[in-house]
Parts: sequence; structure tokens; C-alpha cells
Amino acid sequence: MKRSQSFVAVLIPALASAAAADAFAQSRTDAKVVERSVHEDAATQKQATALADKMTPAEKQAYVFGYFPPFSKDRPADMIPSAGYVPGVPRLGIPTLRESDASLGVANQVEQRKGDVATALPASLAIAASFDPDLAYRGGAMIGAEARAKTFNVLLAGGVNLTRDPWGGRTFEYFGEDPLLSGVMAGESIRGVQSNHIVSTVKHFALNPQETLRTTVNARIDEAALRESDLLAFEIAIERGRPGSVMCAYNKVNGDWACENDFLLNQVLRRDWGYQGWVMSDWGAVHSTVKAINAGLDQQSGRELDKALFFGKPLSDALAGGTVSAERLTEMNRRILWGAASTGLLDDPVPTKAQPIDYDVHANVAQEVAEKGSVLLQNDGNLLPLARTVRTIVVIGSHADVGVLSGGGSSQVRSVGGAPVEIPLKEGAAASFARVTWHASSPLAAIRKLASDATVSFVDGTNPAVAAAAARKADIAIVFASQWRTEAQDVETLSLPDGQDEVIDAVAGANRRTVVVLETGGPVLMPWLPRVPTVLQAWYPGQRGGEAIANILFGVTNPSGRLPMTFPANEAQAPRAVIPGLAAMKEADRAQKKGSTYGMVERSLMVDVDYKEGADVGYRSYLKRDVRPLFPFGYGLSYTRFDYSELRIEPGARPTVSFNVTNIGKVAGADSPQVYVRAGRRNGPSTRLVGFQRVTLAPGEKRRVAIPVDPRLLADFDTAANNWHVAAGRYPIFIGRFAGDAMITGEVTMKNARIRP
Ligand code: BGC
Repeated sequence: MKRSQSFVAVLIPALASAAAADAFAQSRTDAKVVERSVHEDAATQKQATALADKMTPAEKQAYVFGYFPPFSKDRPADMIPSAGYVPGVPRLGIPTLRESDASLGVANQVEQRKGDVATALPASLAIAASFDPDLAYRGGAMIGAEARAKTFNVLLAGGVNLTRDPWGGRTFEYFGEDPLLSGVMAGESIRGVQSNHIVSTVKHFALNPQETLRTTVNARIDEAALRESDLLAFEIAIERGRPGSVMCAYNKVNGDWACENDFLLNQVLRRDWGYQGWVMSDWGAVHSTVKAINAGLDQQSGRELDKALFFGKPLSDALAGGTVSAERLTEMNRRILWGAASTGLLDDPVPTKAQPIDYDVHANVAQEVAEKGSVLLQNDGNLLPLARTVRTIVVIGSHADVGVLSGGGSSQVRSVGGAPVEIPLKEGAAASFARVTWHASSPLAAIRKLASDATVSFVDGTNPAVAAAAARKADIAIVFASQWRTEAQDVETLSLPDGQDEVIDAVAGANRRTVVVLETGGPVLMPWLPRVPTVLQAWYPGQRGGEAIANILFGVTNPSGRLPMTFPANEAQAPRAVIPGLAAMKEADRAQKKGSTYGMVERSLMVDVDYKEGADVGYRSYLKRDVRPLFPFGYGLSYTRFDYSELRIEPGARPTVSFNVTNIGKVAGADSPQVYVRAGRRNGPSTRLVGFQRVTLAPGEKRRVAIPVDPRLLADFDTAANNWHVAAGRYPIFIGRFAGDAMITGEVTMKNARIRP
């Protein structure tokens, strides 16, 4: 990671003015989320072209060359510390681009803008787990409204890399392992962000699932497999979300850097998908001038983080020498302006002064995501929901007295209420820009509020014997266990850190009525599972996580989340049992006697990662290999039960699957029935999620759902013909509660078909 130790030192003195901080702190009135329609394509294109044509060559060169404000030596008056800044052209009404991270809210990583808080959504995994596209949209609309109110007009959101390995450091920023679920959720979130007339990115294009050596990894995969998995997630996200910009990734894909990859940028994105917006680089992901620009890179972001200034002088030299054409430079600007025009940013510029924000209203959205996205993994003997009459409860561990954990890195939001616990890192690639941070939403306080007649005590969970002794005396023990993940580092083990497994074991041994609440950014191993009746996966639950968890524990909310990724039973089940490059990276550290600063040697170490599982990401591979995970993709329990019946399949180019969902339990609840098809010829058929629908039902209520199936999900990608091929034949269909389940089954007959990408 290029962000050096000086990141913190540079940022803190460079904080926004006290006046700006006050304006944020005093934010009160309502920031309305207004749905606005996107401009017609032709009009947008015309507007962007007309503007780009009016720019001078110098203006055009400046607009494709972004700053990283914290490290920038040029400091225009309106530049505040954030991820990016690109000066506009006031004489033409071309906006200055003011860029902020990221998908979970307006980030303020190490409080570079002192006192500037924002609403923190839960991890994107919680949004994915809700299986609720509308909620993804509303979450995006909420964070986009805050970005706009804070004067940002580009939100670096829309992370949609598929989870290929359970240990990925950024899995929490993404939507899991399935291309359909990820694409739909990312697309809706982007659409929500852009409903505020600001630009959202979709990122990191492409095949960037690992953090270890992320700036030097060469991801290798065959084209058809890539098209059917990671690229399909991007394709769906772009179709639904119409992001103004695509951020290309740090890594190489099949030998070429993602930001100078002709196949990814020119062929797939532009030629095949007809993408009109601009490609911005990730921060420090540019490696050349001529090659990158001619391969489709439109803008160098955060120039201070690249090892050289590839745009600027080298770009004017390339223009003078004819290796980059003047038309291409105009096109680069037209693409940026298309992003600004298509989102409405050009016609409705973002105010230059911070606007008030109603944080209370926004916190409700964060809480809704946490409530709908938490996954009840086990509930033996119906220990949950807890009765409000319970007399003594002990809450144990993970700073649950003061807050809930968040994931680290560029997406870090400094949430409303501040950070009650914030632990700097001593080593590792993330040390310069991440701290282990808890949001101020206390599960303990929320539990006390709901169990107002109970005695609720707290034990910090650092000592198994002390925790067990407290558990022995209580009616109910609730252990909070957490694992922190961050950008720039992968987790080196799926085991819970800091002896938390021992604490859980000791507590479960002392009290059979033990609930474990997991705050993690991906799967963890659960060696204690047979001895613990109840487990709630709360991910990083965001701004109101404490309240959301308490509501689920006491049945105010019926849990309805479904896992967006497979939870392996052990590390050996994963497609790669070890993190590629990790050992080499550590060895290089040792050799250089750099000890803890291994992020610094990244640039000289190249590593090839072969994604041999191809398109069979996650559950597809588990089912193919007949490996039984701890919890499958799509899995999650409820306080009620659902039944599916009367399956009907309307064949056609785009078949429709319909069936009844009935709540056969005693309480209201939401279910997300999933439609899977066995399809694919190239590597033998795989089980694929082809549809889902979240339904909320009163006890006894029945609803018919009809789910259209995108035929690309039944197809193989034919690289020779450059299109999707649906082979004629009969395809088995399974309606289930998780991948591999089959509550009702059927078959769809497809005709031979070719679909353009
Ligand atoms: C991350 C991006 C982020 C950018 C700007 C990079 O290190 O990979 O996701 O948007 O920094 O902060």
C-alpha cells in the first residue's frame, strides 16, 4: 500500500475549517432523498459532447488528472481532505470533481476532517443478506444524500468484487459470492447514490478479490469463466445502476494491469457493454501513459499515490508526439462529462457550502439494513427470541458495552456519536490509514432498554474463567465475538482472534442458554458450534447496530437475513487453503529486515493467482465438489417458517418461475425464497442462483411470487462467437431456502439461443 505512515501526520493538521465542522455538527433539517429520472441517452451524449468540444487542450488535460488532497501540494481553497479532487472549468460550468469514499457512507478514515461525522451503513454484506434490492437503493440514496450535503459530487461506492476466498480483507465492502445477487444489490445501491444527482463509481474492475500484494497480483482466469462470474456481476450492476464512472483495479488480469487492460476496458466495457461513462484509476493503479490511455483509461486518480505522474507532462508529450490522439483526449473528457450529465450533476450542481443533514432519519435506514441483514444461523430449542421477563443477562465481550465493530480502510466512516474505541495498528499494510474502530451504538444499552426489568451486567471477555463465572449466575449469556477486517490486508486465519473461541467455550460450558453474536466481515470458524444453541451473524452492523441486534434478540424484529457467501467448515474447504503471496511477502520482509512494514515491499513482489475454480465461485464449487460447508450460501433462520407450493414455469427466451410462499408459523416474518437452476456445458453443469424475492408475510398469509429469469444465467459464454450461448434442452429448477436445497423442483425447456453481451 502506497499510503505511507505520513498519511496520518499529513491529514490531521490539514483538517477542514472549524466553520465547516460546525456546519456538520449543527446539521439538523431534513436532507430529502429525491428520486430523479436519468436523462435520455441522446440528450446526455449531446450535452457531454458539446461541452468537451468547447474545452481548450489545457483544460482537457487538467480534467483527466486527479489529486489526492491529503498529499497534494497544490491546495485550491475549496479542496478539503478526502479521496479525490479534480478542478473543473468554471467558464463552461464544468464542475470540480470532489470525490469521497465509499459504499458504507461518507468516509473520514482517520478523522482527516475533524468532527465530520456521517451515517455508517452496516457492511455491504448485510445489504446483500437482506436480499432486498429496494433497501440497497435506499441505503445508497441515504449515503449519496450525505455526500451531496457535504459538497461531494462523486462517491467512490459500488464495490462489487465477488468473494472468491473466505479470507478477503474487503469482503465486508462487497456483496458476497454470487454474480446475480451482487450485481443487483450493487446496481441498486449505485442507482440510489446517483438519485442525488451525483456520480457513483462501480469498482474495482476487475478480479480484485484479494488484498495481499493487491498492487502486484496477477489474477489469472480463462475468459469465459471471467465473463460468467466477476464480469457478470459488473455487467448487471452497470445495467441497473448506470454508474457515471468505473474504477479500474490495482491488480493485473491475465498479465495486463487492470488500468491498462485493453480486453477489460476497450473490449468488454466499451465495445460489448456499450459503456459511455469514464474509467478512473484506483489510487496508485496507473503504470503507463500511452498504453493505459489507448487501452481505455480516462482519468488518473490521486496522482500523488502513483509512482510517477503518468498524465500531465507525459500526456502532453504523448499528444505532441501523436501516440495519444487529440480525439482520444476529447473522448476522455466527453466520457467524464457523460458521467456528470447522465446523473444530473451538470444541471443540478452540488452546492459549494455544506448543507444540513437529518442524521436521525438516516440512522433509521442504517438500522433497517442491520435488522434485515443479520442472519440467524442457529437457534436450537428456540432460545431466541428472548422473553422480556428474563431476570438476569450477562453481556460478554467485544466492547459491547460501548459499541459495534466496523471494517477498516478507505471505506471507514466516522459515524455519528464518534468512535468509542479506536485502536491504531502497529504493523501491516493498512497501518497508515486504518484503525480498528467501533461505532457508538451500544448493544448493552439497547438490551437494557428492552429488558428493563432485568439485571444486565457486562464482562469484557478477556478472561474465559471470569466470563464463565458471570455466565453461570445469569439466566442468559450473550457473547459478542468479533473479527476485524480491513482493506490492504487479508485475514490470515478464519479463527476468531484473541482467544474468543475459548471464551465462548467456557461460557457455553457454564450456561446452556448462550447466544453468540458475531460481528465479522466474512465467515469465521465455529469450533464451539455444537455446544452453543444460538448464533446470530450481525456482520459489521453500522451506526445503529446495537439497537438492531437487541431488537432481533427480543423478537421486536424477526430475523430475515440470508448468507450472501458460503461459510466453510474449515479452511481446507476453500478453493485456496492459503493466501497466495502471503508467505513470500513475509519472507521479503524478513530479508529486508523491514519487520512490520511489509506493505512497503509490495511493489517488487509479483505473484500469479490462478482462479482455477473459474466461474464456480463459492457455493457453485461446494456443490460441484460435494463438499458440505458449515453454513451454505442463502441460509438463514427466522422465528417463523415458510412453505413453498404450486410451482409454475412459463418457458420462453426469458422464462418466469412462479410459486406460492406461505408463512406457516405464528409470527410475521420475511423470507427470501431462492430459485436455482443447473446449467452450463463448458465445465459440466453448475447450480446457479437465477432469481430471488424477499416477501414479508403475516402468520398464515400466502403470496404468489413471479420471478423472471435472465437467460445469461443459464448460458455459457462462447468466447469464439463473443456471445452468450443458451443450449437447447431441459434445465432442472430448484426452489429452496439456500444453495443445494430443493423444497420444490421443476424443469424449464430452453430453445437454442445466442445473446449479445
Ligand atoms: C481503494 C479504493 C478507494 C481509493 C480512494 C484505494 O486504495 O482501493 O477503493 O476508493 O483508495 O480512497
